[in-house]
Amino acid sequence: MTHISLGTIRGAAVAMTLAWAGTTLVAGGAPQNGAAADRALTFSRDVAPIVFAKCAGCHRPGEVAPMSLLSFKDVRPWAGAIREKVATRVMPPWHADRTYGTFRNNPSLSQAEIDTIVRWVDGGAREGNPEDVPALPTFAQGWQIGKPDQVFEMTADFDVPARGTIDYQYFEVPTNFTEDRWMQAGEVRAGDRARVHHIIVYVREPQPRARPAVVRVRPILATSEPAAAPRPAPTAAPAPRPAPDGGAAPAAASRATDNMLVNWAVGEDAPVYPSGMAKKIPAGSTLIFQVHYTTNGTAGRDRSRLGLIFAQEPPAQEIRTAAIANPLFAIPGGASDHRVEAEATFSEDVKVWTMHPHMHLRGKDMTYTATYPDGRKEVVLRVPRFDFGWQTDYWLAQPLLLPKGSTLHVAAHFDNSAANKANPDPTATVRWGDQTWEEMMIGFFTYTVDGHIANRRQAGLPDTAARSAFFAGRAANPGQARAILDDRAASSR
Ligand code: HEC
Repeated sequence: MTHISLGTIRGAAVAMTLAWAGTTLVAGGAPQNGAAADRALTFSRDVAPIVFAKCAGCHRPGEVAPMSLLSFKDVRPWAGAIREKVATRVMPPWHADRTYGTFRNNPSLSQAEIDTIVRWVDGGAREGNPEDVPALPTFAQGWQIGKPDQVFEMTADFDVPARGTIDYQYFEVPTNFTEDRWMQAGEVRAGDRARVHHIIVYVREPQPRARPAVVRVRPILATSEPAAAPRPAPTAAPAPRPAPDGGAAPAAASRATDNMLVNWAVGEDAPVYPSGMAKKIPAGSTLIFQVHYTTNGTAGRDRSRLGLIFAQEPPAQEIRTAAIANPLFAIPGGASDHRVEAEATFSEDVKVWTMHPHMHLRGKDMTYTATYPDGRKEVVLRVPRFDFGWQTDYWLAQPLLLPKGSTLHVAAHFDNSAANKANPDPTATVRWGDQTWEEMMIGFFTYTVDGHIANRRQAGLPDTAARSAFFAGRAANPGQARAILDDRAASSR
């Protein structure tokens, strides 16, 4: 049928199931009873398979983690730290509360995997027979989504100084599209990986889009909220907006509704949508690269890129991004648990695919709660200890169906006290703004509208391989997305 290995896909699905079976057992902290020291466990046979599968993607040369974990020699000096980080579930990084929702990009170890590592360390962290070590996985070199149809590059280099804080930088890259294009997969590649903290690429459309408004967003004002300067509230339909370098608050507020296309940060996968679904980039659009640079003591130079793979024809459904945002807050100096809320109401049946909390350095937690038309409430994502350092898309394992009349409520808390070590100024009253010393409160999500089938032919596409690969999660092989798409094209012929 195809060159995608279904064995690999099934293997991944099984691994995920095991990960889920283990998730409720641990609240972080001490090893369980079963985790007694075990001198029979070896790196080569028992630990290497876990470390290669779950850690090496980041812990290898040129990647984001501080040290490599590719051999016994690499791993042994870190055994104590590894034991601690996996037992407390700090590594691999995942910031959602495991009690709510099932996410296909959750990299967490199963309880059995944690126990194995802990018992191996407690038993002396022995090497065992080097011949037992499995082959290292092949990591994607270059584009993980496969060869893009088109690559967009920042139009100039950005020189990153050795020291200091750098404001978010915005780079405009015209698409020069003369017709609408559909993004099936997209990947951002940071030019200077050591100094690029995150990149979000937004689509600025040439004119506000005439789409049926399905999502209505309203900020919820607390009665205790100190009067903030009134600002335009974001709505689902983008309004004409000022130049991105304006930096003024209204520009920042409207930016929340620019169409977020692709984002990249440490540990982030490139989005590949299942067939029949794609993101629209209208003719004449401009791509806005929002880049957050961090300095590290030596100067560097960046020119980051975005690679896109296009759907060959308009998809059955458009993937849309919306922002449940409240730009009207004012967080008093010293407040340690300031709550800010906003809510979206849906006028048609929708499916939610991903969620993405966005706050800055005072962001503490964010919770998305769905309320169904029958009044039933369900927490669909909770990030209890938000960390600005990890900008994560949470990909639901199965889309969340919100029938017409449902609401999606987002509540965030901010810590503007001195106890928040990341707080740039605990005496400031903090309002909405782009800069990290200002704040944002955005619950991004992507969704499709069930009733909006634009292309019947695509809707009926037989694409089992593509769909199972999508739900199996992380793209394991270089070019897998391309393989999935080629497979799809072949099966639709
Ligand atoms: C998504 C990328 C990613 C994955 C996956 C990952 N790490 Fe890390 N790890 C990091 C980064 C980045 C750091 C640096 C600290 C930070 O930013 O939190 C780190 C730090 C660590 C540290 C602390 C190092 C120190 O300086 O004290 C240990 C130990 C560690 N990781 C072990 C692991 C193990 C074991 C796994 C797999 C079970 C793993 N990590 C998976 C990215 C990752």
